[in-house]
Amino acid sequence: MKIGMIGTGYVGLVSSVCLANSGHSLVCIDKRPQIIDSLSKGIPTIYEKDMDSMLATCVKENSISFSTDISSLSDCEIVFLAVGTPSLPNGHADLSQVFSAIDSLLTVLNEQAMIVVRSTVPVGTVKRVRQYLDEKGKEKQMLGFCPEFLREGVAISDFLNPQYLVFACGYKEGQDLLHQVYQPIIDATDNKVRVVKTYSFETAELIKYTINSFLATKITFMNQIAQLAQASDADVGTVIQAISADRRIGELFLNPGPGFGGSCFPKDTIALVKCGITYGVDMSVVEEVNHSNKRHKEYIASWILETLEKNIQVEGKKIAIWGLAFKAGTDDIRDSAAITIVESFFQCNIEVHAHDPKGNENFHTRVNNSHLQLYDDPFDAVKDTDVLVVLTEWQVFRDISPQEVLNLMNGDNPFVFDTRGILPHDKYKELGFQLYKFGL
Ligand code: UGA
Repeated sequence: MKIGMIGTGYVGLVSSVCLANSGHSLVCIDKRPQIIDSLSKGIPTIYEKDMDSMLATCVKENSISFSTDISSLSDCEIVFLAVGTPSLPNGHADLSQVFSAIDSLLTVLNEQAMIVVRSTVPVGTVKRVRQYLDEKGKEKQMLGFCPEFLREGVAISDFLNPQYLVFACGYKEGQDLLHQVYQPIIDATDNKVRVVKTYSFETAELIKYTINSFLATKITFMNQIAQLAQASDADVGTVIQAISADRRIGELFLNPGPGFGGSCFPKDTIALVKCGITYGVDMSVVEEVNHSNKRHKEYIASWILETLEKNIQVEGKKIAIWGLAFKAGTDDIRDSAAITIVESFFQCNIEVHAHDPKGNENFHTRVNNSHLQLYDDPFDAVKDTDVLVVLTEWQVFRDISPQEVLNLMNGDNPFVFDTRGILPHDKYKELGFQLYKFGL
């Protein structure tokens, strides 16, 4: 099938490469010429596991092409919109890119082609797009909504091995067309994937927000439990071990950390609250999740600083940071807890020596401060520092020998704060580190 994709960010690029890899022919459009130039050469513009090899193969085999010219989509059977829907200053989702993509599409697309919104949009948006198409005399143009459920860092694997798919379209014909697009992926998973089809755009829009907001709530709840464990000398790890055996709770997304970040949970939880306002419904649970998550990032910074102040004079000290990305497996630092925490260190005149396996460059663009030095190597980052703080759960940090860390840091009993609970704590303690794990 010839498929178009407008937008080559995380969602658009991962979806395109995976669909091209599944036997479809993809045409990808983006307004940014440098991005198109790089992707046309097979060079990814984001870091995502397996993206470089898959993109290079698709480009070589001509199953994917990139262009800034929207007219390249004229003979596509189906066109997905994977444009950004960032938060406006008032918290509502900015839908201008969705409507401007529709406007330009209508100038080139034939009436038989289906348009599918893939961007995350507030409940009621796709119905507005339908009305907009009708007003433009495009009543026959089929419209669908197909939300994405891709986690950065494992997005390709999530796309190729989905647990569920959601196809929303007012016509069975459109739902069937979406099914056809995903047929190779459904077949490859031995039909284990749950395919949810609905005629209601609102239902599909709500599914997307419900999942992200529910997961954000789960994490925030566990961060509060971890704070309580910390204050009461309980061990949150043992609490999790027990509660995750309860099938009603499940094992995943219970890990406490420095607070959730990324381009989705912060934005989507705020947008769900705004949807509640639009429909006159109380969404105070999710509203509080957002506030609590912001406070939690500040709590982690204060916990580190107050613990240090009880023991040493923090001003003028050097703190090493391992991990700047909002999670492991990505170069994305959007809304990362590292931003809040590092900035609070700067306020205390602390020098920060940081390393992230993929996120250094993006962090440097976002946080530019004379107190910040970025290192390509985790060992260089800890050298001659007094304190080590782990903020992202990269595997490489788990594997580093604590002895080597001790040899490089100042003093015989350096401080380590593990906000993700990933280090081999006993080994660190045996060597004399003063180790603090969040939630214990
Ligand atoms: C999230 C959803 O998981 C995807 O299903 C969804 O498609 C995507 O948003 C989206 O809407 O595009 P993502 O933001 O890439 O994916 O990352 P997650 O793995 O969900 O992690 C989000 C945040 O929660 C990270 O900061 C992570 O460190 C934190 N987290 C996650 C925890 O603190 N504890 C956990 O147990 C799990």
